[in-house]
Amino acid sequence: MSQQKKILVTGGTGYIGSHTCVELLQAGYEVIIIDNLSNSDAGIADRIAEITGKKPILYKADMTDKQEIGEIIASEKNIFSSIHFAAYKAVGESVEKPLMYYANNLNSLINLLDLSLEYGIKNLVFSSSCTVYGQPESLPVTEQTPVVRPESPYGNTKRISEEIMEDFYAAHEDFKGIALRYFNPIGAHPSGLLGELPSGVPNNLIPFVTQTAAGLRDEIKIFGNDYNTPDGTCIRDYINVVDLAKAHVAAIDRLAQNKTKKAFEVFNLGTGRGISVLEIVKGFEEATGVKLKYTMAPRRAGDVEQIYANSSFAENELNWKAEKTLKETLASAWNWEKKIRDIQ
Ligand code: NAD
Ligand code: WQD
Repeated sequence: MSQQKKILVTGGTGYIGSHTCVELLQAGYEVIIIDNLSNSDAGIADRIAEITGKKPILYKADMTDKQEIGEIIASEKNIFSSIHFAAYKAVGESVEKPLMYYANNLNSLINLLDLSLEYGIKNLVFSSSCTVYGQPESLPVTEQTPVVRPESPYGNTKRISEEIMEDFYAAHEDFKGIALRYFNPIGAHPSGLLGELPSGVPNNLIPFVTQTAAGLRDEIKIFGNDYNTPDGTCIRDYINVVDLAKAHVAAIDRLAQNKTKKAFEVFNLGTGRGISVLEIVKGFEEATGVKLKYTMAPRRAGDVEQIYANSSFAENELNWKAEKTLKETLASAWNWEKKIRDIQ
């Protein structure tokens, strides 16, 4: 494995980005973060340093500001690859403010690709999402499962971003891109120093569960129990964030070792296990010993009934596999929630 290659991590103080910085530093890569701190804070860089003993350089800057980003990249020199996490990700907000999502998520990527050409950053790993599959006709989904127009503007930014990359790499074959389609990332770093920090009422299931366990929310509403699934609730593929972070290192290693087979490659990243909402609630209780109050509620608009990954392409080609159990992942999410709420 190549050591001390410099990796530019956009959105590197965010939830998945911060865990990835830890894994990159531990694997011997040098890390530079660009983040506008719109959904994170500068203290995360200190936490990354506390875990790894190495402090990443953090530039507070906005990826939509091409001039400023260009100046940073020019001053850094010799960046081997970018990992592009920086984006807005709230599905509901994207329905209300579509232009804000298209402007931020697409302009950030376009600027990064353009600056990559200008400064010779030959490699890019991009955060995509299983949302590009919509409700697939057959499960589990492989990378060959057809991509559809996602329900939300947020999801659509991911589909369009992949299309932009496809065209970019067709035109510039000495540049390499990898899009990673994450299923549902959950959990926190085992140190309890990094995790997800949603602002306001969480939209996603796991932060809602941990906040309910912590007493911040009265009860969990299970959105729909009349789906065509074994217990009637929706099924997802929940992947541990540390496992997910490690897949980014595997993607960078693949680029560093010149193992890519095409200029633009796409990988699913999931566990292959479909887990229902009720199984999450019960699994959390078992993993933590904390009882949860929950009620059945109407379906949430835009939810797909069930989706889970076939990740064998990533397993074979990236030499990567999701390893953590659901139990330890849910326990890590609770450990993080307790730390930030000061619960003993
Ligand atoms: P996050 O919000 O925790 O991290 C994103 C980071 O990007 C934040 O620190 C934010 O401050 C920063 N950012 C946003 N816009 C920026 C801009 N214009 N310039 C600079 N920084 C900017 O989100 P996350 O959960 O870590 O997600 C990371 C990536 O993975 C996103 O692209 C997201 O769409 C994608 N993704 C997330 C999930 C998920 O469930 N968390 C699932 C699939 C894909
Ligand atoms: C999971 C399940 C809900 C909250 C979202 C984005 C997707 C991707 C990952 C970025 C669903 C149910 C939830 C609650 C519930 N992000 N639920 N009560 O919707 O699968 O995916 O995050 O790319 O694009 O859409 O994740 O955590 O919101 O929901 O019953 O209070 O939990 O209905 O079945 P989702 P989620």
